[in-house]
Amino acid sequence: MANRDKATNQLLDYKKSIGDAATTITTSSGEPIGIKDAVLTVGPRGPLLFEDFHFLDELAHFDRERIPERVVHAKGAGAFGYFEVTHDITKYCAAKVFAGVNKRTPIAVRFSTVGGESGSADTVRDPRGFAVKFYTEEGIWDLVGNNTPIFFIRDPTLFPSFIHTQKRNPQTHLKDPDMFWDFFALRPEATHQFAILFSDRGIPDGFRHMNGYGSNTFKMINSSNVPVYCKFHHITDQGIRNLDPKRAAELASSDPDYSTRDLFNAIAEGKFPSWTMYIQVMTFEQAKTYKYNPFDVTKIWPHEDFPLIPVGKLVLNRNPKNYFAEVEQIAFAPSHMPPGIEPSPDKMLQGRLFYGDTQRYRLGVNYLQLPVNCPYRVAVKNYQRDGRMCFTDNQDGAPNYYPNSFGGPQESLRARNLRERFSVTGDVDRYRSGDEDNFSQVTNFWLNVLSCQERRRLVENIAASLINANPTIQVKALSNFTQVHPDLGAQLTRALKLLSSTKM
Ligand code: HEM
Repeated sequence: MANRDKATNQLLDYKKSIGDAATTITTSSGEPIGIKDAVLTVGPRGPLLFEDFHFLDELAHFDRERIPERVVHAKGAGAFGYFEVTHDITKYCAAKVFAGVNKRTPIAVRFSTVGGESGSADTVRDPRGFAVKFYTEEGIWDLVGNNTPIFFIRDPTLFPSFIHTQKRNPQTHLKDPDMFWDFFALRPEATHQFAILFSDRGIPDGFRHMNGYGSNTFKMINSSNVPVYCKFHHITDQGIRNLDPKRAAELASSDPDYSTRDLFNAIAEGKFPSWTMYIQVMTFEQAKTYKYNPFDVTKIWPHEDFPLIPVGKLVLNRNPKNYFAEVEQIAFAPSHMPPGIEPSPDKMLQGRLFYGDTQRYRLGVNYLQLPVNCPYRVAVKNYQRDGRMCFTDNQDGAPNYYPNSFGGPQESLRARNLRERFSVTGDVDRYRSGDEDNFSQVTNFWLNVLSCQERRRLVENIAASLINANPTIQVKALSNFTQVHPDLGAQLTRALKLLSSTKM
């Protein structure tokens, strides 16, 4: 841990910022408290009195401090800033966030790991979440992505099972290498993401030195109602930097909040991290005949076929004022899309349009009224009312039914028009997709993307983890890697043999 860095000096800085202003302690109902460091008792040795409201008020609130942590991505750090358009993409998209070069939109970003609990170490091998909330003048746009352009599975119904394998064994409450590798062995579509996860990029050096990707395929509509499919990329302006696994393991014990600290300090010191946003665009015609399924999130869209188009810059220049209020309570949802941006048929994206469900459980039905979540650049006007912890004016005396003759809010012509009308045909069924071309892009990654040293490190990293799974699962996992390339299979087999001989 760094000595007396900006993060460590937070309280000193706070004291400086308030100067000598004295404030009075109060109960939660605002009554001033005369004595704070003693309970009310009969005589100096007790017992306590039930009428000690100050104590009960404090204890009852304390008892309820924790809310459920996110079921995934529980450990994270956040910051605020802006998105600025640098290139005109209105020919693809009529969303107001892209309307005009130099236009700025306030943003919030939360970075996270995926599988660990909210107190877990930052420097583990795990994908990193990269969730961006744009506070646009047409409501919230949440682009909830990761630091990898792809994902482990392509059918959302597998997500809960997949996540179970990354978390704890139900009996031992331990991370379980058999679960972890068994899922991989049985679902070869995960091979591409496993290859990235066990490459150098599997342990980024903090959150500033990694890219972010929308990962899923989205749809954009322009003002003439012409739709295109698109992918979003945020390329780090700090440059990619990764941690050596040994250093990452040391940090996990010496400074488990390494990435959180790094982000806080960088912003506090005025070194504002930024990312350049690019899109890739695919026309509907191209999508019909493209060699890969454009809606398969286990695959990338190769840049040579769909070049990166620059769009703008994301800049983070403010730390949260309070972690719980602004980071723990922030709620990103892929379904939050302003007019001009829509979901594509990507099954994984469609399966993610329901984050509001977990957020209603985690934060309550009125979670979108919380300052960090509310679309504060819009006046929310609708026919929803009431619910637990409604803390706005609840839309005063406006009519709470639609239609009405009393001046209630009306439909938006722009939102109605700016929407792709599309037809869908096909037989309703449960279409298994586990066997759809699981390896061709991974073979390319192995042969043409990784250098010789990177290939060696990939093999070492996989072997160091796979050795902990039972031998039957090792054999099945090896079969997936061998289908990527016989050399990968052979090198892994050798590395595992070596490790097991040194273990004996
Ligand atoms: C069907 C597949 C998926 C399901 C069901 C799912 C479900 C969830 C749930 C329940 C949360 C917790 C939300 C909260 O409590 O606020 C979450 C968070 C998150 N998910 Fe997913 N997820 C899926 C796929 C993905 C994919 C493919 C990505 C990225 C490419 C992703 C990125 C994230 C991120 C970054 C967060 C954390 C957001 C934050 O910082 O608060 N998820 N997901």
